[in-house]
Amino acid sequence: MQGDVLGLLRKQAGSYMSGEEMARKLGISRIAIWKQIQSLKKHGYDISALKKNGYILRSSPDLMLPAEIKTGLKAKMFCTKIYYFTSVDSTNNYAKKLAQAGAPEGTLVLAETQTKGKGRLGRSWFSPAGCSIYFSLILRPEVLPAYAQRFTLLAGLATAAAIKKTCGLSVRLKWPNDLVVPGKGSYLKVGGILTEMAAESDRVNYLVTGIGINVNIDKKAFPLELRSRGTSLKAQDPRNIPIVRVRLLQQILTEMEHYYKQFLKGEWENIISEYREFDILTGQTVKIKQGDEVISGKVVEIDSEGRLVLRSKNQVLKIIAGEVTLNKL
Ligand code: BTN
Repeated sequence: MQGDVLGLLRKQAGSYMSGEEMARKLGISRIAIWKQIQSLKKHGYDISALKKNGYILRSSPDLMLPAEIKTGLKAKMFCTKIYYFTSVDSTNNYAKKLAQAGAPEGTLVLAETQTKGKGRLGRSWFSPAGCSIYFSLILRPEVLPAYAQRFTLLAGLATAAAIKKTCGLSVRLKWPNDLVVPGKGSYLKVGGILTEMAAESDRVNYLVTGIGINVNIDKKAFPLELRSRGTSLKAQDPRNIPIVRVRLLQQILTEMEHYYKQFLKGEWENIISEYREFDILTGQTVKIKQGDEVISGKVVEIDSEGRLVLRSKNQVLKIIAGEVTLNKL
């Protein structure tokens, strides 16, 4: 609802709108409007009020508040309910608890910072406050557990497509879950996906797909050990212009919903063929670490089931999981 008040103030751009008119347009009382204005102000919105003219929005904080996300959001299935945190341990952990308690598909958990952000394979995810995107979506597709990996690929595709549309930047995908850009001699990571699930042997109970994107982090703000491997979207822009995080998140949700609907309609082939347009591994010589074992070979393709097909010593292997290291660019 706050999103609607904010939407009206934004539409009015630079001029006043009376509480009465807002109330009429939204079909709620003037007191309800006043309450919402107070709540927006508490979150840092600069809203002036004049008795005879009404309200005017002077400036907005750089926060990813639910009201901001809902204003102008095209996605319908996703974001039915938003849990927003200034700080949380991990949006994936919180979303898993919600899903366990029965939260519906499309529930979104997002945070300005994470104190225990999780990466794949037990790693941590660098999550500084107020300058990046960290969120998790609860999904409940009726599929076999073996299909879970497909949602990591789907989320990667949706995110890369959204970054292209919002920032004009060509982010590529490194199977299975890395969003990367070419750097000097190697690819640099700008984001990653972590899908977790609860399942029975023949049915997924729920999936939590977590997405982390380094958006406006200054290169120098990365810890030393990450500086040579990671970057942010802003740092890739020659003009170093900050990205409006809410717009990017809205576009990701819209793209996610688009591809998720395709998945539900049985159009996986289309998703994987679009994924391949962003893939950097096909044709490359790589090493794949699976537990203690390391396999070397040349990537033939990402196949129609989303597996990495590797030619290794005259054998063709179909890999479903693993950590891929690429030879230098
Ligand atoms: C990876 O590349 O290793 C996966 C990174 C996933 C990070 C995101 S940030 C939002 C969500 N919550 C987490 O704790 N992790 C994922």
